[in-house]
Amino acid sequence: MFSFPHNVFLPILVFPIIICCCSASLLGRSNATTIYEVLSEHGLPMGLFPQGVREFAVGEDGLFWVRLDEACNAKFENELHYERNVSGHLSYGMIDALSGLEAQDLFLWFQVMSIRVDVPSTGLIYFDVGAASKRFPLSLFETPPECVAVSSQQQDAPSHHQGQVQSGRIRHKLNQGTSGRDVL
Ligand SMILES: *[C@@H]1O[C@H](CO)[C@@H](O)[C@H](O)[C@H]1NC(C)=O
Ligand SMILES: *[C@@H]1O[C@H](CO)[C@@H](O)[C@H](O)[C@H]1NC(C)=O
Repeated sequence: MFSFPHNVFLPILVFPIIICCCSASLLGRSNATTIYEVLSEHGLPMGLFPQGVREFAVGEDGLFWVRLDEACNAKFENELHYERNVSGHLSYGMIDALSGLEAQDLFLWFQVMSIRVDVPSTGLIYFDVGAASKRFPLSLFETPPECVAVSSQQQDAPSHHQGQVQSGRIRHKLNQGTSGRDVL
């Protein structure tokens, strides 16, 4: 009698575990189960991607994508803007062919093309935004930052009061950035 519910529920419990294992096997040789571990394995700091990344894929060729619940902004020294889907190519000490990541500098937003660290490490990390490269202390990226949602569409039904206030503030900054860009 009691075995019946077991039989019904066991697959339900086991299924997510199988799915987890399958997505881990996408990583090829690596045992990493989070994008943060993948970064570490490539000699990159874990704080390059914000907290709460649940979905990602890395191919054996190093091509990867990271899926966020929402586009969001994270603050380190300047501000970084993550699109919902950030993709690129990972190699040791370097991410290139980046898409979906922008960095703010002097109120302007720049598409980040690549990110690299020195091997062996000099404690610096370089963000390449096309014409220019900007360097920061690696220590700014030790831990995954909090990322504040910025919706480009309408504000959704208020579910998170604090989140709304913050995203309003961010949007103001974004507007400043945009107007700065217009002046150029
Ligand atoms: C992955 O796990 C296996 C078995 O636990 C281990 O032998 C191997 O060294 C690990 N690989 C990496 C890259 O950590
Ligand atoms: C993210 O973008 C990459 C490259 O365009 C694509 O291959 C991948 O399927 C996308 N992932 C998701 C979850 O949309």
